[in-house]
Amino acid sequence: MFTKYMHTINNKLYIGCHSLSDIAKNYQTPLYVFDKKYLEDIMDTYKDNFKSKLFKTDVVYATKAFLVPAILDLANKHGLSVDAVSLGDLSIINQSGFSMEKVVFHGNNKSLEELNYAISIKVGLIVVDNLDEMVNLNNIAKEAKQKVKILFRFNPGINAHTHRYIKTALYESKFGESIYDLQKINDIVKTYQTCDYLEWIGCHSHIGSQIRNYQPFILNIDKMMTFMKQLNEMYNLNLCTLDLGGGFGVDYENEKSSFSIEKLLKKMIKQIEKNNKNLQMNISQVIIEPGRSIVAPAGITLYKCGYLKETYGKKKYLFVDGGMTDNIRPALYQAVYQVDLVDKMENIKNIKVDVAGRCCESGDIITHDSLIPMPTSGDIMVVYNTGAYNYSMFVSYNGQLKPAVVFVDDEIEIASRRETVKDLYKLF
Ligand code: LLP
Repeated sequence: MFTKYMHTINNKLYIGCHSLSDIAKNYQTPLYVFDKKYLEDIMDTYKDNFKSKLFKTDVVYATKAFLVPAILDLANKHGLSVDAVSLGDLSIINQSGFSMEKVVFHGNNKSLEELNYAISIKVGLIVVDNLDEMVNLNNIAKEAKQKVKILFRFNPGINAHTHRYIKTALYESKFGESIYDLQKINDIVKTYQTCDYLEWIGCHSHIGSQIRNYQPFILNIDKMMTFMKQLNEMYNLNLCTLDLGGGFGVDYENEKSSFSIEKLLKKMIKQIEKNNKNLQMNISQVIIEPGRSIVAPAGITLYKCGYLKETYGKKKYLFVDGGMTDNIRPALYQAVYQVDLVDKMENIKNIKVDVAGRCCESGDIITHDSLIPMPTSGDIMVVYNTGAYNYSMFVSYNGQLKPAVVFVDDEIEIASRRETVKDLYKLF
């Protein structure tokens, strides 16, 4: 729950030398706060543990989890590549000065405009989702007289144990093409053979998100490598890059299980090395795309507590000045979060509340049945582990303004400013 740099002094919660109540006072609430040192550590953990003497590795940060220029700077500093899934993502990444060579472009329905733009800014790798897209991409590349490196996304048919909305490799999932659809695979290869401007270097699969055990990732490696070997042999292809996607889960519920990212990365490397040998393959580059596991634990949200209400049905609600607009995950995935009051860290937690937001929705609940000390209006509440898919999935329902984001190290920097009422008029 705490990062290594969070601690309490005299009942107050701190990141490094900054008390969170001071940060809330200075930057207002709701506020997304990121522990910058933690971000730097976890990026290094990925780089240090996902490497092999036998093949090249690349850690691609999945920006859909959280995208601001400051995180791109960190990714760049620590040797990570990044992904993008839209024109918007590509523009932000391009504007920030990040090397487009190190960008992987995803999406199951990329528009012609997006493909054109991706080619014009020389995105390093495009992950093709389906056959029609392959044809369109080749036409655009031909027009631009520019060769494009591609991966093709395949669905290995793995039912990872996670929320059904974030499973991506069931037989009925919308992403990529099944490794079992032999007719389609034949069509894809035959079409590729007519695509002079595409260089097909390997295969991609992503089996889902928030997966907290090793086995589905190992199964993904086995299935994809066996599949690539068959493809190479049947069609005389030379697919040597394997992109295994992201999906590495984080400990939202303080479950303290033995699952660890370091262990997982080492196991994955070992399995690929073993398969390369046993299957007599030559996988020369392996990519992973972690999003959540890099940013979720680094981020927290600060809210100001408002009224405490007890209903006729004896339910206690503690209202905060944000809610489902800045954290849609409990409403969408029944996600569970932990909370504290930042200046009452050691007080006895003797009151049980649902932490509720300000929206006109009964489902606007951040946490259910949280035990906290008796709150007073104006107390600052922290919600832990909100660094992934909170800022990026912000919704402006009920005229809510997007909170600011600050990165905390010895200094505090504003990574994204607070939205203002004036910003709301900008579309009209
Ligand atoms: N690569 C691909 C192709 C993906 O689709 C995703 C996530 C990732 C990598 C990164 O996965 P991660 O390491 O973050 O699990 N909004 C949902 C999560 C959606 C994930 C979408 N794809 C949530 O809040 O749980």
